[in-house]
Amino acid sequence: MTTTDVLDDRPTRTSAIKLYGEEGFEGMRKAGRLAAECLDMLIPHVQPGVTTEHLDDLAREFVLDHGALPACLFYRGYPKTVCISQNHIVCHGIPGPKRLVEGDICNIDVTVIIDGWHGDTSRMYGVGEVSPRAKRLVDVTHEGLMKGLAAIKPGATVGDIGHAIQTYVESQRCSVVRDFCGHGVGQVFHDNPNVLHFGRKGEGAVLRPGMFFTVEPMVNLGKYQVKVLNDGWTAVTRDKSLSAQFEHSCGVTETGVELFTASPAGLFKVPINGEV
Ligand code: MF3
Ligand code: CO
Ligand code: CO
Repeated sequence: MTTTDVLDDRPTRTSAIKLYGEEGFEGMRKAGRLAAECLDMLIPHVQPGVTTEHLDDLAREFVLDHGALPACLFYRGYPKTVCISQNHIVCHGIPGPKRLVEGDICNIDVTVIIDGWHGDTSRMYGVGEVSPRAKRLVDVTHEGLMKGLAAIKPGATVGDIGHAIQTYVESQRCSVVRDFCGHGVGQVFHDNPNVLHFGRKGEGAVLRPGMFFTVEPMVNLGKYQVKVLNDGWTAVTRDKSLSAQFEHSCGVTETGVELFTASPAGLFKVPINGEV
Protein backbone atom coordinates (compact mmCIF):
# COMPACT_ATOMS: atom_id res chain seq x y z
CA MET A 1 0.00 0.00 0.00
CA THR A 2 1.10 3.56 -0.55
CA THR A 3 1.26 6.03 2.30
CA THR A 4 -1.93 7.61 1.02
CA ASP A 5 -3.75 4.27 1.07
CA VAL A 6 -2.70 3.68 4.66
CA LEU A 7 -3.85 7.12 5.70
CA ASP A 8 -7.19 6.75 3.90
CA ASP A 9 -7.69 3.41 5.62
CA ARG A 10 -7.57 4.76 9.15
CA PRO A 11 -10.54 4.16 11.43
CA THR A 12 -12.72 7.24 11.84
CA ARG A 13 -13.80 9.44 14.69
CA THR A 14 -16.83 8.29 16.66
CA SER A 15 -18.99 10.18 19.15
CA ALA A 16 -18.64 7.47 21.81
CA ILE A 17 -15.34 7.62 23.68
CA LYS A 18 -13.45 4.43 22.90
CA LEU A 19 -12.13 2.25 25.71
CA TYR A 20 -8.96 0.36 24.90
CA GLY A 21 -7.51 -2.73 26.55
CA GLU A 22 -3.98 -3.99 27.14
CA GLU A 23 -3.31 -4.31 23.40
CA GLY A 24 -4.10 -0.62 23.04
CA PHE A 25 -1.77 0.32 25.88
CA GLU A 26 0.99 -1.74 24.25
CA GLY A 27 0.40 -0.09 20.88
CA MET A 28 0.37 3.40 22.36
CA ARG A 29 3.52 2.80 24.40
CA LYS A 30 5.38 1.94 21.22
CA ALA A 31 3.96 4.84 19.20
CA GLY A 32 4.35 7.34 22.02
CA ARG A 33 7.91 6.31 22.69
CA LEU A 34 8.92 6.69 19.05
CA ALA A 35 7.33 10.15 18.88
CA ALA A 36 9.21 11.19 22.03
CA GLU A 37 12.46 9.78 20.63
CA CYS A 38 11.93 11.81 17.46
CA LEU A 39 11.69 15.00 19.54
CA ASP A 40 14.77 13.91 21.54
CA MET A 41 16.69 13.39 18.29
CA LEU A 42 15.93 16.97 17.20
CA ILE A 43 17.37 18.63 20.33
CA PRO A 44 20.95 19.19 19.11
CA HIS A 45 19.65 20.40 15.73
CA VAL A 46 17.51 23.23 17.11
CA GLN A 47 20.18 25.93 16.76
CA PRO A 48 20.36 29.50 15.45
CA GLY A 49 20.45 29.44 11.63
CA VAL A 50 18.71 26.11 11.07
CA THR A 51 15.74 26.20 8.71
CA THR A 52 12.50 24.75 9.98
CA GLU A 53 12.25 22.60 6.83
CA HIS A 54 15.60 21.01 7.68
CA LEU A 55 14.19 20.00 11.06
CA ASP A 56 11.13 18.62 9.26
CA ASP A 57 13.37 16.58 6.92
CA LEU A 58 15.23 15.11 9.91
CA ALA A 59 11.94 14.21 11.62
CA ARG A 60 10.47 12.59 8.50
CA GLU A 61 13.60 10.49 7.88
CA PHE A 62 13.67 9.42 11.54
CA VAL A 63 10.03 8.36 11.52
CA LEU A 64 10.30 6.44 8.24
CA ASP A 65 13.61 4.81 9.29
CA HIS A 66 11.83 3.44 12.36
CA GLY A 67 9.04 1.76 10.40
CA ALA A 68 6.46 4.40 11.23
CA LEU A 69 4.45 6.91 9.19
CA PRO A 70 4.23 10.67 9.71
CA ALA A 71 0.55 11.18 10.60
CA CYS A 72 0.44 14.88 9.73
CA LEU A 73 1.84 14.51 6.20
CA PHE A 74 -1.15 14.90 3.85
CA TYR A 75 -3.55 15.04 6.82
CA ARG A 76 -6.32 17.39 5.63
CA GLY A 77 -3.82 18.73 3.10
CA TYR A 78 -1.11 19.50 5.65
CA PRO A 79 2.18 19.41 3.70
CA LYS A 80 4.81 18.44 6.30
CA THR A 81 5.75 15.88 8.96
CA VAL A 82 5.92 18.21 11.95
CA CYS A 83 4.46 21.54 12.99
CA ILE A 84 7.04 24.12 14.09
CA SER A 85 5.61 27.13 15.88
CA GLN A 86 8.02 29.77 17.10
CA ASN A 87 7.45 32.87 19.26
CA HIS A 88 4.00 34.34 18.58
CA ILE A 89 2.96 31.32 16.48
CA VAL A 90 0.51 29.37 18.64
CA CYS A 91 0.39 26.09 16.68
CA HIS A 92 0.38 24.47 13.22
CA GLY A 93 3.36 26.48 11.93
CA ILE A 94 4.39 24.94 8.58
CA PRO A 95 8.12 24.18 8.23
CA GLY A 96 9.79 26.14 5.44
CA PRO A 97 12.94 28.09 4.49
CA LYS A 98 12.71 30.38 7.52
CA ARG A 99 15.71 30.19 9.85
CA LEU A 100 15.47 30.06 13.63
CA VAL A 101 17.38 32.84 15.38
CA GLU A 102 19.03 33.19 18.77
CA GLY A 103 16.43 33.85 21.46
CA ASP A 104 13.50 32.17 19.68
CA ILE A 105 11.36 29.71 21.57
CA CYS A 106 9.76 27.11 19.37
CA ASN A 107 7.38 24.20 19.66
CA ILE A 108 7.86 21.09 17.55
CA ASP A 109 4.82 18.81 17.32
CA VAL A 110 5.12 15.32 15.83
CA THR A 111 2.62 12.52 15.40
CA VAL A 112 3.76 9.07 14.30
CA ILE A 113 1.67 6.06 13.30
CA ILE A 114 3.10 2.67 14.12
CA ASP A 115 1.06 -0.54 13.77
CA GLY A 116 -1.96 1.76 13.39
CA TRP A 117 -1.44 3.57 16.71
CA HIS A 118 -0.89 7.34 16.88
CA GLY A 119 1.76 8.85 19.16
CA ASP A 120 1.23 12.62 19.35
CA THR A 121 3.54 14.88 21.35
CA SER A 122 5.08 18.33 21.30
CA ARG A 123 7.50 20.30 23.39
CA MET A 124 9.32 23.62 23.55
CA TYR A 125 12.92 24.25 22.53
CA GLY A 126 15.03 27.32 23.24
CA VAL A 127 17.20 28.57 20.37
CA GLY A 128 20.48 29.61 21.95
CA GLU A 129 20.06 31.92 24.93
CA VAL A 130 16.43 32.85 25.63
CA SER A 131 14.99 35.87 27.51
CA PRO A 132 13.81 35.34 31.11
CA ARG A 133 10.19 36.14 30.17
CA ALA A 134 10.21 33.61 27.33
CA LYS A 135 11.70 30.99 29.64
CA ARG A 136 9.08 31.77 32.26
CA LEU A 137 6.30 31.23 29.69
CA VAL A 138 7.78 27.86 28.77
CA ASP A 139 7.99 26.87 32.44
CA VAL A 140 4.41 27.97 33.14
CA THR A 141 3.13 26.03 30.11
CA HIS A 142 4.95 22.85 31.10
CA GLU A 143 3.71 23.13 34.67
CA GLY A 144 0.18 23.78 33.39
CA LEU A 145 0.31 20.54 31.39
CA MET A 146 1.59 18.65 34.44
CA LYS A 147 -1.25 20.04 36.59
CA GLY A 148 -3.76 18.91 33.96
CA LEU A 149 -2.27 15.41 33.77
CA ALA A 150 -2.29 15.15 37.58
CA ALA A 151 -6.08 15.61 37.53
CA ILE A 152 -6.56 12.44 35.46
CA LYS A 153 -7.99 9.37 37.22
CA PRO A 154 -11.11 7.24 36.87
CA GLY A 155 -14.17 9.19 38.01
CA ALA A 156 -12.63 12.60 37.33
CA THR A 157 -13.97 14.57 34.36
CA VAL A 158 -12.51 16.23 31.29
CA GLY A 159 -13.50 19.55 32.89
CA ASP A 160 -11.28 18.78 35.89
CA ILE A 161 -8.27 18.69 33.54
CA GLY A 162 -9.11 22.05 31.97
CA HIS A 163 -9.87 23.59 35.34
CA ALA A 164 -6.51 22.51 36.77
CA ILE A 165 -4.64 23.97 33.79
CA GLN A 166 -6.57 27.24 33.62
CA THR A 167 -6.37 27.91 37.35
CA TYR A 168 -2.61 27.48 37.41
CA VAL A 169 -1.87 29.34 34.16
CA GLU A 170 -4.02 32.34 35.09
CA SER A 171 -2.45 32.45 38.58
CA GLN A 172 0.81 33.03 36.72
CA ARG A 173 -0.70 35.96 34.75
CA CYS A 174 -0.71 34.02 31.48
CA SER A 175 -3.71 33.00 29.34
CA VAL A 176 -5.02 29.70 27.96
CA VAL A 177 -5.82 29.55 24.23
CA ARG A 178 -9.48 28.62 23.69
CA ASP A 179 -9.59 27.78 19.98
CA PHE A 180 -7.58 24.54 20.06
CA CYS A 181 -7.95 21.56 22.35
CA GLY A 182 -6.62 18.11 23.13
CA HIS A 183 -8.36 15.12 21.62
CA GLY A 184 -8.98 11.42 21.87
CA VAL A 185 -6.11 9.53 20.25
CA GLY A 186 -5.39 5.89 19.46
CA GLN A 187 -6.19 4.19 16.18
CA VAL A 188 -7.84 7.49 15.22
CA PHE A 189 -5.67 10.65 15.14
CA HIS A 190 -8.30 13.13 16.36
CA ASP A 191 -11.13 11.40 18.19
CA ASN A 192 -13.56 12.22 20.98
CA PRO A 193 -13.36 13.52 23.62
CA ASN A 194 -12.34 17.12 23.03
CA VAL A 195 -10.03 17.99 25.90
CA LEU A 196 -10.41 21.70 26.59
CA HIS A 197 -7.59 23.33 28.53
CA PHE A 198 -9.97 25.56 30.49
CA GLY A 199 -13.26 24.84 32.21
CA ARG A 200 -14.98 23.91 35.39
CA LYS A 201 -14.58 21.04 37.80
CA GLY A 202 -17.03 18.19 37.30
CA GLU A 203 -18.02 19.23 33.77
CA GLY A 204 -17.76 17.09 30.67
CA ALA A 205 -17.21 13.38 30.15
CA VAL A 206 -16.29 11.17 33.10
CA LEU A 207 -12.87 9.54 32.70
CA ARG A 208 -12.73 5.73 32.60
CA PRO A 209 -9.81 3.29 32.48
CA GLY A 210 -8.83 2.65 28.86
CA MET A 211 -9.61 6.15 27.54
CA PHE A 212 -6.74 7.59 25.49
CA PHE A 213 -6.37 11.29 24.74
CA THR A 214 -3.91 14.14 24.43
CA VAL A 215 -3.48 17.10 26.73
CA GLU A 216 -1.78 19.95 24.85
CA PRO A 217 -2.30 23.40 26.35
CA MET A 218 -1.29 26.48 24.40
CA VAL A 219 -0.44 29.35 26.73
CA ASN A 220 0.11 33.02 25.83
CA LEU A 221 2.00 35.73 27.69
CA GLY A 222 -0.66 38.20 26.55
CA LYS A 223 -4.33 37.68 25.70
CA TYR A 224 -5.75 34.32 24.65
CA GLN A 225 -7.17 35.37 21.27
CA VAL A 226 -5.63 33.82 18.15
CA LYS A 227 -6.09 34.09 14.40
CA VAL A 228 -5.25 31.71 11.56
CA LEU A 229 -3.12 33.12 8.72
CA ASN A 230 -4.00 32.91 5.03
CA ASP A 231 -2.12 29.63 4.60
CA GLY A 232 -5.08 28.07 6.42
CA TRP A 233 -2.88 26.53 9.14
CA THR A 234 -0.58 28.91 11.01
CA ALA A 235 -2.28 30.18 14.17
CA VAL A 236 -0.78 33.29 15.80
CA THR A 237 -1.62 35.38 18.85
CA ARG A 238 -3.75 38.40 17.91
CA ASP A 239 -1.73 40.68 20.20
CA LYS A 240 1.58 39.22 18.90
CA SER A 241 2.51 38.06 22.39
CA LEU A 242 4.66 34.96 22.85
CA SER A 243 2.94 31.57 22.95
CA ALA A 244 4.07 28.14 24.15
CA GLN A 245 2.72 24.58 24.12
CA PHE A 246 3.53 21.11 25.45
CA GLU A 247 1.64 17.93 24.50
CA HIS A 248 1.48 14.39 25.85
CA SER A 249 -0.59 11.44 24.68
CA CYS A 250 -1.85 9.50 27.69
CA GLY A 251 -4.16 6.76 28.86
CA VAL A 252 -6.43 6.52 31.90
CA THR A 253 -5.40 3.59 34.12
CA GLU A 254 -7.21 1.95 37.06
CA THR A 255 -5.47 4.34 39.43
CA GLY A 256 -4.49 7.43 37.43
CA VAL A 257 -2.72 8.16 34.19
CA GLU A 258 -0.01 6.62 32.02
CA LEU A 259 2.04 8.95 29.79
CA PHE A 260 2.76 7.33 26.46
CA THR A 261 5.04 10.12 25.20
CA ALA A 262 7.46 10.56 28.10
CA SER A 263 11.04 10.91 26.85
CA PRO A 264 13.02 7.75 27.63
CA ALA A 265 16.04 10.06 28.10
CA GLY A 266 14.13 12.35 30.48
CA LEU A 267 14.22 15.21 27.96
CA PHE A 268 10.53 16.02 27.56
CA LYS A 269 11.30 19.40 29.10
CA VAL A 270 14.40 20.36 27.13
CA PRO A 271 16.85 22.38 29.27
CA ILE A 272 16.74 26.05 28.30
CA ASN A 273 19.63 28.42 29.10
CA GLY A 274 21.56 25.51 30.61
CA GLU A 275 19.05 24.87 33.42
CA VAL A 276 19.37 21.50 35.15
N1 MF3 B 1 -0.21 17.19 16.10
C1 MF3 B 1 -1.28 18.17 16.10
C2 MF3 B 1 -2.11 17.88 17.32
O1 MF3 B 1 -1.58 17.92 18.38
C3 MF3 B 1 -2.11 18.10 14.88
C4 MF3 B 1 -1.46 18.67 13.74
S1 MF3 B 1 -2.51 18.44 12.41
C5 MF3 B 1 -1.62 19.03 11.16
O2 MF3 B 1 -3.25 17.52 17.30
F1 MF3 B 1 -2.25 18.68 10.12
F2 MF3 B 1 -1.46 20.30 11.33
F3 MF3 B 1 -0.41 18.48 11.18
CO1 CO C 1 -2.66 16.48 19.46
CO1 CO D 1 0.39 17.20 18.32
